[in-house]
Amino acid sequence: MESATKGLKVIGIAASPRGQSNSTALLKAALKGVESQGITTRILELIKYNVLQCMGCNICVHDGKCRLVDDMYDLYPEVSAADGILFATPIYFYSLPGFAKIFIDRFQLYWVKKYVLKEKMSCRGLGAMIAVAGTKGEKVFLPSELTLKYFFDSLCLEQYQSLTFREVGPMGEFEVTAPMKQQAEKYGKQYAKILKQHLLNK
Ligand SMILES: Cc1cc2nc3c(=O)[nH]c(=O)nc-3n(C[C@H](O)[C@H](O)[C@H](O)COP(=O)(O)O)c2cc1C
Repeated sequence: MESATKGLKVIGIAASPRGQSNSTALLKAALKGVESQGITTRILELIKYNVLQCMGCNICVHDGKCRLVDDMYDLYPEVSAADGILFATPIYFYSLPGFAKIFIDRFQLYWVKKYVLKEKMSCRGLGAMIAVAGTKGEKVFLPSELTLKYFFDSLCLEQYQSLTFREVGPMGEFEVTAPMKQQAEKYGKQYAKILKQHLLNK
């Protein structure tokens, strides 16, 4: 079991633009849980990167490459090589913050590789959403969860159950409590265990 799951890496993607962010704090706690299972982690704070928006030129349809020159050059190989992704986001207008969607749209070339160019990919890992909303809207997480489902799919990752918190920071307050962090750490630990199991079954 050990050798099949040795050297695993989970990337935490933080989609909040804020320094003191509820969703990023929960992501950090979840990654602690992941690390407790012997998995290496790294956090990418999207706001720190220069990511241009997809222009829909569809040049990638021919060779699976993007002609835009920006930080995605380094992010593509790192994100696509991850065994798992935990994508943490605040809810903005029932969806992801705009710059996070811009980042996701730039993965169109992976959709092309998979479904148009039919490149062989190793479909192994798991992606999951951690999301925080200020209100108690019943369907407040649904649009982001769907967007991330297809983002994960383009990278050949199956979607694992989300961790969501409603009524947190409606006016931007930092409201992550110790029990919430404990819940996120437990979630990360469980996610890591299921990820290992998932990889062994492949
Ligand atoms: C531009 C903007 C739009 C928002 N839209 C929603 C929304 O549609 N539904 C909701 O429940 N909360 C909404 N919120 C509240 C945030 O989801 C909430 O403040 C969250 O705690 C922020 O997470 P963060 O600390 O990780 O940035 C919005 C906040 C901002 C700044």
